[in-house]
Amino acid sequence: MELFVVGAGYVGLTTAVGFAQLGHGVTVHDVDPAKLEALADGRSPIYEPGLEVALRDGIAAGRLRFTAEATPDSDAEVAIVCVPTPLDPGGLLSTSIVESVVGGLLAALGSDRTIVVRSTLPLHGPDRLEIVAGGGTRASIVVNPEFMREGRALADFAAPTRVVVGFLAERDRTAAERFAGLYASLGAPLIVADARSAVLVKLASNVFLGAKVAFADELARLCDATGADVSVVADGLGLDPRIGRAFLDSGPGFGGSCLPEQAMAIAVETKRRDLDAPLLSSIATSNAVHQESLVVGIGRLLADGLAGARIGLLGLAFKANTDDVRQSPALNLARSLRAHGATVLGYDPIARATAQRADPDLATADSAIDAVDGADAVVVATEWPEFAALDWPAVRARMRGDLVYDTRRTLVAAEVRAAGLRYVALGRASVPADAVAAGDVAGAAALADPVARA
Ligand SMILES: NC(=O)c1ccc[n+]([C@@H]2O[C@H](COP(=O)([O-])OP(=O)(O)OC[C@H]3O[C@@H](n4cnc5c(N)ncnc54)[C@H](O)[C@@H]3O)[C@@H](O)[C@H]2O)c1
Repeated sequence: MELFVVGAGYVGLTTAVGFAQLGHGVTVHDVDPAKLEALADGRSPIYEPGLEVALRDGIAAGRLRFTAEATPDSDAEVAIVCVPTPLDPGGLLSTSIVESVVGGLLAALGSDRTIVVRSTLPLHGPDRLEIVAGGGTRASIVVNPEFMREGRALADFAAPTRVVVGFLAERDRTAAERFAGLYASLGAPLIVADARSAVLVKLASNVFLGAKVAFADELARLCDATGADVSVVADGLGLDPRIGRAFLDSGPGFGGSCLPEQAMAIAVETKRRDLDAPLLSSIATSNAVHQESLVVGIGRLLADGLAGARIGLLGLAFKANTDDVRQSPALNLARSLRAHGATVLGYDPIARATAQRADPDLATADSAIDAVDGADAVVVATEWPEFAALDWPAVRARMRGDLVYDTRRTLVAAEVRAAGLRYVALGRASVPADAVAAGDVAGAAALADPVARA
């Protein structure tokens, strides 16, 4: 089938490359001419494992094309909309870009064509699409929320946990079922339902994941206050199949383009509907409180506090394996540390340029070892594997102070301490270095042993 994708960002590019890999012809449009030029040249404007190679393969096979034209030629049966839905000043996801793109497509496409909205819509998104659609003869309109994880986007496209397709009105049901057929070879569970349910599946999934992380983050601080080990607690919790281990790794808070925005959006959506929903309303707050608590906690670990302190911040991306810094907890930490009077020098192996664009006031270094130069404290904010492999005696030699604060528990405590550094890990602040290896469930037995704890 011939497809037309609007928006060549994380979602649009992954969708285009993924469908090209399934054998479809895909033409991609974006408003950014520089992006189109890079893509046509086989260069991916975003970092995503395997994407650039797959992009080049798709171009070479003649299945991927790029265009500055905002509407497809007559061959494309389906137009897939992957444009941004940023938070508006009121805290709701804005549909204005989606509406304008869908409006343009409706004007250009016949009634035998289908428009698929893959952007994440707010709960009132289907209402807005109904207004744009109007009452007459028109192309079909369906929604198809994206559940991919950045850093594993192509793999997730090829093996989705589920495919959810929503029809805007009953008349769009057949088009929704036909579009869902494009995913049939992937063997994923399929839900075809009304658009309102489909949109809420996406929003609720992200908010639930945010809630799990926020729960784990609050537990981590409780562990610090009680001497428990959050890794042991998370493993013990996660072994219950009703709970599951995923997303129980505490850290510097949840980030990325989806979870923070949607945790905020659901709080506003429930309030606007006069729903008393204290749980849904508190997830974004929990995340913000956690991030601020970390900064205050780091300040308490420094003899002279944060004012005038120099902090080497390792990791700027919101998680490893991506250059995405949108709502990155690392950048939130950097801002808050600076607001408390500290000087921050950041480093990230992949996300330096995106971080500099997002926060032009953030100073960055060429390497991790340069970032720790003269630092009173090193803070690990992203779980890049290279941080665990650092030469800790060399780090010690370059630092002014001795604190290494690991929000991800990604370092080997004994190695850091052997270099004469003071290692403190979130959720494990009072756990002796040799009591528990990272993520080692068996190590919990040692914790229970009062001699080992002494
Ligand atoms: N990034 C994720 O992990 C993820 C996952 C699931 C859903 N989503 C949702 O998918 C949507 C897109 O997210 P993204 O991360 O790909 O965003 P992005 O910012 O990476 O990409 C959006 C692209 O759309 C282009 N664009 C903007 N306006 C346009 C227009 N009028 N016409 C054509 N192109 C236009 C931009 O130039 C950009 O290249 C959002 O609704 C987001 O919430 C994102």
